[in-house]
Amino acid sequence: SIVYLDGAYMPMEEAKISPMDRGFLFGDGIYEVVPSYDGKMVGFGPHIDRMIEGMGFIDIKLDWSHDQWKDVCDQLIEKNGGGNLGIYLHVSRGADSKRFHAYPDNVAPTVFAFAFEIPPATVADKTKIKGYKVNTQQDLRWDRCNIKSTALLGNVMHFQVGHAAGMNETLLFNANDELTEASACNAYIVKDGVVATPPLDHQCLPGITRKILLSILAKDGSIKVEERIVTKEEVLNADEVWITSSSKEIAPVIEVDGKPVGNGEVGDVWLAAQTLYSAQKY
Ligand code: PDD
Repeated sequence: SIVYLDGAYMPMEEAKISPMDRGFLFGDGIYEVVPSYDGKMVGFGPHIDRMIEGMGFIDIKLDWSHDQWKDVCDQLIEKNGGGNLGIYLHVSRGADSKRFHAYPDNVAPTVFAFAFEIPPATVADKTKIKGYKVNTQQDLRWDRCNIKSTALLGNVMHFQVGHAAGMNETLLFNANDELTEASACNAYIVKDGVVATPPLDHQCLPGITRKILLSILAKDGSIKVEERIVTKEEVLNADEVWITSSSKEIAPVIEVDGKPVGNGEVGDVWLAAQTLYSAQKY
């Protein structure tokens, strides 16, 4: 594939960075994944806003406009043949001459981007979707999960525990047994037709799929949504459980910790929500 690195496009094999890059040494960077279907990106503006906000949180100074990011995304889509792509955007603090924890002065950020294949856009059809199986774990990450940091070891370790157990994802709960999110997705329950998802705070990423979905549902008005604390008890007794991310849209979960969610089948509220999302996501 063709990638972007610090101003140039090149085959992936030719992209090289310094081992002194702080992204490599410290996970000192911010990233994004923007989905694109047949050349059309979903949520481009909010994705870039979140990345700019993230760079602000950690004082990485890179004054790129939305148009500059758009050009890189468009070029990667074109150079990689379109189709269904996730565009990965990454800004690390850059390579210093020494390893010292404090933010260095006068180091240029490293900007890297590549495109990878993602599943086709979700079809809102119960017969065409495979339900996800997840397990549950105590959320052992840090207290700044709202920052989309490239330091993902906590997420990776949680995901791996689920993966090794044959799960597609893992639902995470804080020390009070309140749902935070999944290791790479936001999480939701449905009970008696009402959707509930944890409020945005330091315990979860402000997902762009979540943002777009909640705004579509609010505008439509036919499905009630609550942003509130969701307990583990509620998750285990929910009629439906969903997870969302840029590469999955709204994914229905049919099994939690080996037990069926509701009747163990993909739910009607999922169908209604994914139908609205599919029609209005752009
Ligand atoms: N993951 N929460 C976490 C911890 C995530 O890593 C992600 C995204 C989400 C969903 O956010 P969004 O809807 O903006 O994709 C929630 C990306 C896709 C990844 O790391 O590959």
